[in-house]
Amino acid sequence: MSDPADQRPPTQNSSARNSSGPPAIPETPLADALLAAAGSTRASFHALPVSRRGSIRESALADAYDALFGRGLFSEATITAPPLDSFFFPHRSLARAEELAARAFGATGTLFVTAGTTTANLIALEALIARPDVRVLADKGTHQSIHFALSDKHATVDYIEPRVFCEHSERAALSLPALLEQAAAAERAGTPYELLVLNGQSYDGVVYDIRAILTALAEASPSLTTVFVDEAWGAWSYFHEATRGRTALHARAADPALERFTVVATHSAHKSLSALRQGSLIHFSGDPELAERLRLGRYRHHTTSPSYPILASLDLARAQMELEGRDLVERSLRLARRVSETVAGDPALSAFSVNAPAVPDAFAGHAAIDPTKLSLRVSGLPIEAPELRERLYSRHGLYVNRCTRTSLLLNLHIGIGDEEVAALLDALRAIQRELSPAVERPDEQAGERRVSTSFIIPYPPGVPIIVPGEEIGGDTLRRIEAFRSAGARIYTIEHRPR
Ligand SMILES: Cc1ncc(COP(=O)(O)O)c(C=O)c1O
Repeated sequence: MSDPADQRPPTQNSSARNSSGPPAIPETPLADALLAAAGSTRASFHALPVSRRGSIRESALADAYDALFGRGLFSEATITAPPLDSFFFPHRSLARAEELAARAFGATGTLFVTAGTTTANLIALEALIARPDVRVLADKGTHQSIHFALSDKHATVDYIEPRVFCEHSERAALSLPALLEQAAAAERAGTPYELLVLNGQSYDGVVYDIRAILTALAEASPSLTTVFVDEAWGAWSYFHEATRGRTALHARAADPALERFTVVATHSAHKSLSALRQGSLIHFSGDPELAERLRLGRYRHHTTSPSYPILASLDLARAQMELEGRDLVERSLRLARRVSETVAGDPALSAFSVNAPAVPDAFAGHAAIDPTKLSLRVSGLPIEAPELRERLYSRHGLYVNRCTRTSLLLNLHIGIGDEEVAALLDALRAIQRELSPAVERPDEQAGERRVSTSFIIPYPPGVPIIVPGEEIGGDTLRRIEAFRSAGARIYTIEHRPR
């Protein structure tokens, strides 16, 4: 059955593609305004001495600056209103750029943020938690920024714990029946939850089908109508029909029965689009008052020195996805299939395998594996995944961030092309040639049990293993050790008492 929302924007691809001649570049109001300001400014008697290379022109360090940042970046403007738009109260180029982003993602409104999704999440929760006693049902597998914001707001939080379903990738997912039962029980008791917080697209590549979750939730807890979905890794997925269907904003836009929900979603555009580092988006659909509360939240929590290059990159990245996003995502999907098939079929890669690309049946109705994130298991080498990661970087210049004891996470994002994939496969073949067969590793011992008064957070990825009040069991200690041996630091952070 075709989905009505698949026939209309988010993207302008089809109109751009069907016209004769080169496709029309979508409007980029903020990028244009920044470029114009850079061209017409001779000097700024405000701040940022390095802009226009003013402070480094004669410096012995000028070459290092130029090599690292290129000359283009020195057009960085501290100019805001009047020549450019005001960041906190936009009504011209930034307002238009945010409006275009909202349209591209199928949201009612969008706010640009230049301090990462760490800050975007804080802003979103500032807007969503108007009183300290708001009852929140939260996925425990969310990023630390959400836990800290909930803790600082003194929200009344009940957590639902995702269950690890693949010990190698450490991928985990929530049980939908458990979530629904908890929401329904609160509803029956007359104390329904007011806000549901989900990690919609995890660092490890587990993606929730938000439409399926909201559809079931509408029945289980009719009073729970506000949902916040951290989709830090998922902005790209709005631009291809194979992946758009599970996204938070699409869920509400695609199904009139879900219009009762107010949905807020955050995207680290820098993680998956052509945006500069820390470029992040907050989208919302539903409650019209939310726009003002989010703007106020941004005013309270955002740096008062936003980066205009980052803002302009958000504008360009959205335009690029409207124009070319489908092709870029298609390429990522194709390359991910290529890696999987090559690893499965090439004897020169027999030491590796791709961990199961599907979720177990118990999760299949509401969760899936992000097809562009492959978990590559190292089963036939005498080294573990952290050492493989180190070799890939030091000897082949190929960087992988996330790894467990046995597996590496390969993110086939839109910046990875055929050449990079070929280099990766060649490097893996070379490493397999160099090394001898695998050795077995004994299981770790379970440790003593106690109750935590703190968050225990491995970084990366910054998702707590333990929240205050939880019992620390043998399994916890095993997980801590696994993160440690994968190179993560373990942070213990006290819960702030009221
Ligand atoms: C799920 C999730 N949310 C939020 C963040 C924070 O995003 P940012 O790095 O843009 O601050 C991360 C970072 O890795 C993340 O994985």
